[in-house]
Amino acid sequence: MHSALGRRPTSAIVARMFDGFAHVWTPLVTARSLGRTPLGLTLAGERVVLFRDARGQVGALIDRCPHRGVALSLGHVAPDGCLECPFHGWRFDRTGANRHVPFNPQARRETLGATPIPVRELGDLIWVYTAPGATAPVEPQPPEGLIAPGLRRTLIARTWACHWTRAMENMLDSPHLPFVHRATIGKPVRRRMTPTSTMEITWEDTAFGGRSRAILDGDDKGAHLEFHRPNIMALHIPIPGRHLRIHALVIPVDQATTRLMVVASRDFAKLGLLEPFFARMNARIADEDRAVVESSQPSEVPPLAQEHSVATDRATREFRRYYFETLRPSAA
Ligand code: FES
Ligand SMILES: [Fe+2]
Repeated sequence: MHSALGRRPTSAIVARMFDGFAHVWTPLVTARSLGRTPLGLTLAGERVVLFRDARGQVGALIDRCPHRGVALSLGHVAPDGCLECPFHGWRFDRTGANRHVPFNPQARRETLGATPIPVRELGDLIWVYTAPGATAPVEPQPPEGLIAPGLRRTLIARTWACHWTRAMENMLDSPHLPFVHRATIGKPVRRRMTPTSTMEITWEDTAFGGRSRAILDGDDKGAHLEFHRPNIMALHIPIPGRHLRIHALVIPVDQATTRLMVVASRDFAKLGLLEPFFARMNARIADEDRAVVESSQPSEVPPLAQEHSVATDRATREFRRYYFETLRPSAA
């Protein structure tokens, strides 16, 4: 497979980058986790390297040297702020431009660049746009709770052995709460539900994706969740006069691996006393979901017609429609 690909023109390789997750902004890592050392990651099956130049500005390149395909993330940042390949020392700036080819002053460096991808540092996170090229057609639009000033944010991260679409649907799925989370966030519903209870899942299209409520037996408690395309859920927990939100950031690594970040944002108890509480609670809830999500077959969500759905699957059905219309049209 690899040798065959290697003989194809570069444009063919570029065309299949980030297969199933192309042309979207996604959070990738916390800004804090990127220091002086380049950071190599896999995103939707594609190797990406992040680094900071001499002024601390973030660059993102496909983690493959254009010379011999070596992982640039094994290199280091030179004093001029360029990322230096570990093999023969070619140096690339944040835009991927080739700034130095040792021993070859005659080399046409303008033709020897690395592949950049758009990158931004926003809130406490680094975001990338999943298409090659230094410019993106739009800017990232994170949910308010991830970037608004004056909020305290607590983040935990997990790696799950599943396709990202199963994890994303889990985050949009309210009817599982009293079963998977019977002793935690599902407890209030579990207490109120009866064998004849009904749940209504509402869905409203928005510019960023959609908004959904889960109403048990006609009683709307005011909580709602938002789906921010392509891969963020923001749960708004109603506390009068306060901001409290829990965000799930569902990041595809490869076909069988998903990186999950859970970020709680709040505008109260900001001194850090509640920090361990929020971190523990979010970790516990995420860990409750894990076995169920990882067990789903097939790993990637199938087209709607291939599974049975009911009325309370409204939000996950909307996700699946978006997924097959926009990200995976070839699989619909
Ligand atoms: S492989 Fe990167 S410089 Fe040769
Ligand atoms: Fe859950």
